[in-house]
Amino acid sequence: MKTYDIYDEERIARMLHVQEANSLDFNSSIPWTTAIDLSKPLLPLDTESLLFPETTEAERLAISQIMGLVVAASISQLESVAVSLQGPTWDKVLKKHPVGPEFRSLGEHFYADEAKHSLAFDRYVAIFAREIGLETGELKAFLPSSNSMIRKIYALNSRLGGAAIWWLIAALEEESIEIYKRMRSSNEALEPLYLALHRAHFEEEIRHKSYAVMMLQLHQAQGTRPFSKFDFLLSETLNFLWSFQQLAKLRGIGALRNRHQFFETISGLCEKFKGQNTLQMMSALCYRTPYTRGMIQLSQHREVQELLKEFGGYRLPFAAANEEKLCTV
Ligand SMILES: [Fe+2]
Ligand SMILES: [Fe+2]
Repeated sequence: MKTYDIYDEERIARMLHVQEANSLDFNSSIPWTTAIDLSKPLLPLDTESLLFPETTEAERLAISQIMGLVVAASISQLESVAVSLQGPTWDKVLKKHPVGPEFRSLGEHFYADEAKHSLAFDRYVAIFAREIGLETGELKAFLPSSNSMIRKIYALNSRLGGAAIWWLIAALEEESIEIYKRMRSSNEALEPLYLALHRAHFEEEIRHKSYAVMMLQLHQAQGTRPFSKFDFLLSETLNFLWSFQQLAKLRGIGALRNRHQFFETISGLCEKFKGQNTLQMMSALCYRTPYTRGMIQLSQHREVQELLKEFGGYRLPFAAANEEKLCTV
């Protein structure tokens, strides 16, 4: 696993220069004025997933679209949570353990990136809502939103010297990179605006993902706290609870059944799932469903596992998952 010398000012200055020189203007580099193509899926799907057996083409399209909206809203919400915690989980940490002005500038650039990404994913959800004849708030009511209690726990963990938020950020960055890699293999078939948004996000995540690793290193350099091995476990547990809480909102989507065919199809699917018990559903979402699996299991990524080895830390005891087979709907 790659680690960094956070006190190497020249190297940090070079990283900042590369990120600034390549920074994307998400207003001009993404074709926002192009209408969303509602006939195309947002994400490639695993057609052999047991959660969605024997679905029609229209149902698979609707699943891909609702999954895509859940992913967009999750990225938007979680990156905005990271930005809202900049004071307690970054500024205060650097004031207590100063590194160098370049490292601080690199962090400011990192937060500017995340604020930009959060707005862009939010914008996509708003455009999608408009295209299917809804107010943004009506659609967002069924999509992931932030939880103020969880935010307070991350702030408290940081006040106690913990790095839980940086574990969350590191894992989510790997997940969003992974999502684009999956999309890339079937890009012709996918909705062009959604694909362009993920491509731009991927480029910037690849360039700045080292910052979370460096913040973990900074925490590590302050010596071991009694509970530092539990920081990742805390993030994974909070994210696990948050993910199920957010996914449960989809159960109410039938209320929009008469507003657009999209919801008619989704609510028909929800009826099909009523025969499955909660444990079956949780297991499917956790292990066999692409995207929700990545959302729920922060420790599934190889890079995160390597970080856990490097810094030491406990994780939730998930069983090994089967390999997914992806294809377009
Ligand atoms: Fe981002
Ligand atoms: Fe990021």
